[in-house]
Amino acid sequence: MAYQGIIHRYGHLLDLPAHSKSISLLEGNTPLIPMTRLGKDLGCELYVKFEGLNPTGSFKDRGMTAAISEAIGRGAETVICASTGNTAASAAAYAARAGLRAIVLIPEGKVAVGKLAGAIAYGAEVIQVQGSFDDALSLVVAITQKTPIALVNSINPFRIEGQKTAAFEICDDLSRAPDWLCLPIGNAGNITSYWAGFKQYQKGLPRMLGVQAAGAAPLVLGYPVDKPETIATAIRIGRPARGEQALSAAQESNGRIIAVSDDEILSAQKILAGEGVWVEPASAAGLAGLITEAGRGRRPATEGSVEGSLDAKGKKVVLVCTGHGLKDPSIVTETFESPKIIPASYDALFGMIA
Ligand code: F0G
Repeated sequence: MAYQGIIHRYGHLLDLPAHSKSISLLEGNTPLIPMTRLGKDLGCELYVKFEGLNPTGSFKDRGMTAAISEAIGRGAETVICASTGNTAASAAAYAARAGLRAIVLIPEGKVAVGKLAGAIAYGAEVIQVQGSFDDALSLVVAITQKTPIALVNSINPFRIEGQKTAAFEICDDLSRAPDWLCLPIGNAGNITSYWAGFKQYQKGLPRMLGVQAAGAAPLVLGYPVDKPETIATAIRIGRPARGEQALSAAQESNGRIIAVSDDEILSAQKILAGEGVWVEPASAAGLAGLITEAGRGRRPATEGSVEGSLDAKGKKVVLVCTGHGLKDPSIVTETFESPKIIPASYDALFGMIA
């Protein structure tokens, strides 16, 4: 039978209320792409779970099909979220599909153009907040406590249920869980979902490597960051709503949460694109973290360094690439050299490429 989305495929494993009414854009079923050359360089069996190939270009669609299905089933008429962009686009699309009103709050001037365009195109009411994602999230939490508007941020438990399905798919593709799972952390819903998914599926447990941007790394620092800053605007978050759960996932899995610099993120984005996989900056954080940790493992043992090593040699490692490169095209057009211009003549072309 043709593929019909994650609720159809895995609904029996998801804790969704009976009143849910399935709203789907056939999300999920994303490829697990072998990264043979890069894996060889890093000494592991490497795969990318390319979540940028979901209907709105990010992993958020897995959680959103679940959250919107539940919200419409219980009679909600309006949904709201705070977002660094991808949740907004996803909520807008699924609300459109369901015939619901969608209101999305984004931090002013800090959302990549492909995400903002998506939210507008799908017909959401987009509101820019003069503040951070964390400020916007506080506002939507407050409003949903006083009105019947449904909150579709990952505080909503059905978002977590839907996002668990990525872990199920990885286990199905590999016939077991990988040894390591590397993924970016923003509001910490996704790491929470993967860990819950792996535990439930019982095909083994990976060690989790959660990666934050250095300018927005509250879980590494151990305290909230009031003014988070990073080029990876998707994860520009200083008070992750599910921070405690992210820390537990790292601890229980014998993994860790680390921070990487913006330069390391951009360099990882280029490396992935050089393998044919173009992802947005936040989505490259997992690779930046893997490179950092694998490098640490290769250094001669000095005090403390062995403990910090990734120990991924020969292991199955999955990088979760959460959003498509098309989400944030200006990062590339602004940081790369502009394409050369020639007259429309054969000689000019030949002279240029010879
Ligand atoms: N990668 C991308 C591309 C994201 O958009 C996000 C989160 C994350 C990683 C981090 O996931 O929050 O579950 O830890 N984006 C949210 C949004 C915050 O509003 O789109 P997380």
